[in-house]
Amino acid sequence: MSRTPLIAGNWKMHGTIEEAEERVAAVLPRIATLESVEHGVCVPFTALQAVVDSTRGSALKVFAQNMHYAPDGAFTGEISAPMLTELDVHGVLLGHSERRTLFGETDKALQLKVPAALDAGLEVILCVGETEDERENGDTERRLRHQVQEDLEKVPTERLGEITIAYEPIWAIGTGKVATAEQAQDALAFVRALVADRSKEQAERTRILYGGSMKPDNAAELLALPDCDGGLIGGASLDVEQIVAIIEAAARS
Ligand code: PGA
Repeated sequence: MSRTPLIAGNWKMHGTIEEAEERVAAVLPRIATLESVEHGVCVPFTALQAVVDSTRGSALKVFAQNMHYAPDGAFTGEISAPMLTELDVHGVLLGHSERRTLFGETDKALQLKVPAALDAGLEVILCVGETEDERENGDTERRLRHQVQEDLEKVPTERLGEITIAYEPIWAIGTGKVATAEQAQDALAFVRALVADRSKEQAERTRILYGGSMKPDNAAELLALPDCDGGLIGGASLDVEQIVAIIEAAARS
């Protein structure tokens, strides 16, 4: 089965509404004819409405960067799935390592967030990945197994293929250190095998992205890997030339 690659920019906590609108306005005409690749942006909450409105009618997918699992309640500072769908947001990034390591995101919470997002009609990009210590200690597969199994436990098997999983080695995020092609392919294939443990058919549908210092000069090699269905791009997604180059590389892969 062929999976359409997704290049998702993760803007993190960067930029004003005006800068967000300018960035998408600069990127969209440059990629309009590239039909073999999807482009998404993970936008700060404050700019979601503006980016949805200014890109309506285009193929761009707009994602939030986090979400609470409850539809409403006494959860000061949180945003729910119905609040995102009210804005016509397409999806949500869940379990990014910065949320896990800096803000106490747990696999238990993700186990509730992932099905809550799907039930609300939101597309999910679920992030998983090991720390540098875990890799050095030979614990990468144990860590990935734990995250994938636990975070997807409450997703009905027939919906597993709807989820995009981003494999992001934490030591490669924002560091300029990129996984070798072999390290990336091994981990991406391992993640797909974990989904296949529940359903081979769904594992063929699941998009698995690589994330962690993907740049124009390494994108083609990573995107050509057999189990790589796109990228989750942090730093390079804030630069129009760099993200366009990566999207073009995905269209050629
Ligand atoms: P990076 O970030 O591309 O800057 O390494 C990736 C991410 O955090 O999703």
